[in-house]
Amino acid sequence: MLEISNLAVTYGGTLPALKDVSIRVPEKGAVSLLGSNGAGKTTLLRSVSNNLKRHSGKIVGGEIKFDGDILNKRDTPSIVGMGVVQVPEGRRIFGRLTVEENLRLGGLRQSRKSIEQTREHVYDLFPRLKERANQRGLLMSGGEQQMLAIGRALMAKPKLLMLDEPSLGLAPIIVEQVGDVIKKINAEGTAILLIEQNANMALGVTDYAYVLEGGRVSLEGETEDLRQTDEIKHLYLGHGGGDAAVDTTAINAVADKKLSPWKGAR
Ligand SMILES: Nc1ncnc2c1ncn2[C@@H]1O[C@H](COP(=O)(O)OP(=O)(O)OP(=O)(O)O)[C@@H](O)[C@H]1O
Ligand SMILES: [Mg+2]
Repeated sequence: MLEISNLAVTYGGTLPALKDVSIRVPEKGAVSLLGSNGAGKTTLLRSVSNNLKRHSGKIVGGEIKFDGDILNKRDTPSIVGMGVVQVPEGRRIFGRLTVEENLRLGGLRQSRKSIEQTREHVYDLFPRLKERANQRGLLMSGGEQQMLAIGRALMAKPKLLMLDEPSLGLAPIIVEQVGDVIKKINAEGTAILLIEQNANMALGVTDYAYVLEGGRVSLEGETEDLRQTDEIKHLYLGHGGGDAAVDTTAINAVADKKLSPWKGAR
């Protein structure tokens, strides 16, 4: 359904942000894109939604197709209209507006009846949002804000939902809940492109994953196979399969040798 071929993007400097990136998301599929800070993950989402220009970035090679249509020739609202919707990095909910108002804005392009139906569906997925329908966005907890950001994106009735690091800054139990909701949305037939540094969560929620490093795809495969690769184990899962991007080498060395980290200290 989404087909990115040989994509190259630059922000004007000498170093390209993306080089020769090819990624596919099949209809109703669930795909994740892993990578550390600065790898180019957000740039890829900006490219798909065609809002690179606002960040003075530019596609300099390759193409992006959705259902056979070339996306990089369309503007952002028309891409959303086609069903390609993103939950941006950092949530970006409207803090002064209520939960319900935030949701209504997500459904702007729908009829009044359709907005009401979709909102009920969002409230079924996130009962907490229903309880807090009249609360201002800024008074919601981080986890609740993430749920609101996802709910708002669902109001646009996506065929493909792209999420940019939804686990960022959330407690492990909330990360798990966010993962469960993403699985549920996918099971209802919406394709998912999940961007994460939390490889543990992402690999549990998606069937296929790509690893982006320095703007290039360095590794890809079925999530079950990727879990077994040393690169993923070392870079992202740690030895115990914990959170992403934590270098546990030193901690494990201490644990393995049963050394006391305090040895010699008084
Ligand atoms: N507006 C911009 N102007 C210039 N360079 C940019 C801009 N936005 C991103 N870049 C550069 O492009 C590269 C990729 O950035 P991007 O934000 O896509 O990474 P990311 O994988 O999303 O990282 P993070 O995990 O930190 O969000 C980085 O080297 C970054 O410095
Ligand atoms: Mg990013």
